[in-house]
Amino acid sequence: MKTPVAIIGGGPAGLLLSQILDQAGIDSVVLERQSKEYVLARIRAGVLEWGTVEVLRQAGVGDRMDREGHLHDGTGIAWAGERYLTIDTKKYTGKPMMAYGQTAITEDLYAAREAKGGIVIDEAKNVALHDIASARPYVTFDKNGETSRIDCDFIAGCDGFHGISRQSIPNDALRTFEKVYPFGWLGIMSETPPLEDIIYANHPRGFALASQRNPTLSRYYIQCALDENLEDWPDDRYWKELKARFPEHIADKIVTGPSIEKSIAPLRSFVAEPMRYGNLFLAGDSAHIVPPTGAKGLNLAVSDVYYLSRGLTAHYNKGDTSGLNDYSNIALRRVWGAERLSWYLTSLLHRFPDQDEFDLRMQENALDHLATSENAMRNLCEQYVGLPFE
Ligand code: APR
Ligand code: PHB
Repeated sequence: MKTPVAIIGGGPAGLLLSQILDQAGIDSVVLERQSKEYVLARIRAGVLEWGTVEVLRQAGVGDRMDREGHLHDGTGIAWAGERYLTIDTKKYTGKPMMAYGQTAITEDLYAAREAKGGIVIDEAKNVALHDIASARPYVTFDKNGETSRIDCDFIAGCDGFHGISRQSIPNDALRTFEKVYPFGWLGIMSETPPLEDIIYANHPRGFALASQRNPTLSRYYIQCALDENLEDWPDDRYWKELKARFPEHIADKIVTGPSIEKSIAPLRSFVAEPMRYGNLFLAGDSAHIVPPTGAKGLNLAVSDVYYLSRGLTAHYNKGDTSGLNDYSNIALRRVWGAERLSWYLTSLLHRFPDQDEFDLRMQENALDHLATSENAMRNLCEQYVGLPFE
């Protein structure tokens, strides 16, 4: 097989890249290790920046998002008993946020690729990258007991944090940065109507978040210890703990019901630099991870793909390689911006095991400053809504 761009990973980054390249008349092949059903069952975050909304619309996958997504002018933060503020992105930046789940986006992308006859090979095992520093890279993989080879010009590593692409780069060609947080998020999905707003809570019992997927599907999280066992968290205990972390008038509005999913996610910040080695380009979680606070993971995957598709399109359609040469630098500026925001919100909203009274006062003062200073709030909104694309 031969294709201009071999894309490793059929998550949102890989599928969106193949969709945008197709619009520009550039063929690609997507290799996904898991089955399509497995990929579509994964539950991930669900708040989109306005820039993400626009890229998805331009890519021709915005219809269902525009029908079913929920626009929010702002996101709430509750703390210190009854205090409450709104990260009012609409007021300070003119842009709302969109609640629309990553699972739905991935469904839309699979449907769009299928409608266009795009090649997505799922259950591709033992994917290996070869000669990535040369002008003739190729990829091999096993499917149904046969080994196949795909020759290409470029490889896009969109295979997430545990993928093979980043691991194929020699250690001395990559610099990595990492911070692991001493807690996780215990999340549940339930078929109950969500609160009207998305609300974060900073509480002595730990962080909590009320979020949503659609008018009848709620997503909630509570901060938990990393060694917490799911079996110790029957629904009753979960709802009681969740409600205890919100002010009473908010807790009273939370509609409880049986959970349909429950899982624990660790919190980690990670960046690999540069996002290119030879003719391999990394995009999305393969190059960086953010803690979920702020929901920047998917948005970063989309901005990486936006820049990478622009570079590839200029290369193929105009013979201009500057976009590819600048890709890593441009993408990383936005990556570090989101790293800083998600690290800041994580620090602001969680209880850390070694936090002393002084640290707690620092958190409270930062929240009070946000609640009382338009400048502080404008600054947060500028980052929360997502930095503009260059
Ligand atoms: N070969 C082929 N595919 C692979 C391999 C491999 N060796 N390793 C991983 N994959 C696949 C995974 O099965 C997954 O479907 O690559 C895909 C990567 O998808 P995601 O993990 O969803 O990453 P990405 O597309 O970059 O999307 C980023 O996902 O984790 C969230 O918060 C993150 O929302 C963000 C989004
Ligand atoms: C989610 O809905 O999963 C979500 C929302 C906001 C966040 C993180 C996750 O900051």
